[in-house]
Amino acid sequence: MQDKTVYLNGEYVPLSEAKVSVLDRGFLFGDGVYEVIPAYFGKLFCLKAHLQRLSNSLNAIRLDVPFDAEQWLDILQPLLIEGDAQYIYLQITRGVADKRDHAFPEHCEPTIFAMCSAIVPFAREQGVQAITLDDMRWQLCHIKATTLLANILLRQQAVDQECAEAILIKEGYATEGAASNIFVVLNGELITPPISHEILPGITRDVIIELAQANGVSAREEVISLADLQTASEIWLTSSTREILPVTVLDNKPVGDGCVGPVWQTMQTLFQEYKRVA
Ligand code: PDD
Repeated sequence: MQDKTVYLNGEYVPLSEAKVSVLDRGFLFGDGVYEVIPAYFGKLFCLKAHLQRLSNSLNAIRLDVPFDAEQWLDILQPLLIEGDAQYIYLQITRGVADKRDHAFPEHCEPTIFAMCSAIVPFAREQGVQAITLDDMRWQLCHIKATTLLANILLRQQAVDQECAEAILIKEGYATEGAASNIFVVLNGELITPPISHEILPGITRDVIIELAQANGVSAREEVISLADLQTASEIWLTSSTREILPVTVLDNKPVGDGCVGPVWQTMQTLFQEYKRVA
């Protein structure tokens, strides 16, 4: 394992020396939130939006971390490593309490951890397979919580069936992927489910909507029924590490003609250009 430098509670240390107490509430309860922030060509991508979402997640779990954008940049920028595409994983837990108790401890210093990894190049042009699964997660999916057991079990079920992702269905509607947002192309129009507590407000999702609208690609936020998903000519998964990933096979059936579609080609070009200038 490469002994890269990571950030832990105010210090930069080799990964092998970064240690957290077993009484950390992140370890005991998954009591924490996180961010995954891509960096292209040495610059953090959409940092402001990621920090805003982090702040929303922290507020939602009632955790106060008084860093402003400049302080976060000072912490994260030195972690960036060589290469065109990397991502920062940033995790904040409620910290170490002296005993295990579900309720918040009276005094606790948050544990702040960050590390940088390469985004592994991926042949998106071939598309991937996905399956639909019942969205059995909790009711606060807008919080980017480290408590990810349901997402993990769903993704693993997909991987067990040689699929890249599980697309989650709640009461007959598609919400998102186990670790991604979803888009479909229906009658030539790009559609993604509206923001709600049922999905994570993806930063990649926002960039795609903005880029589409600025470049004459018809795009709107609308609920996607299972029937829409099954008749869509294109389906994409979007996330900070996978960017825009076309799904060409859903539940063992081809999506559209089973090849990546023209709207994906357009958005892929726009997104790759945007990464260079953002
Ligand atoms: N996951 N929905 C879920 C449930 C996610 O876990 C993610 C990202 C997204 C996409 O969000 P964004 O575009 O901001 O990355 C949507 C990250 C990459 C992860 O957990 O590793």
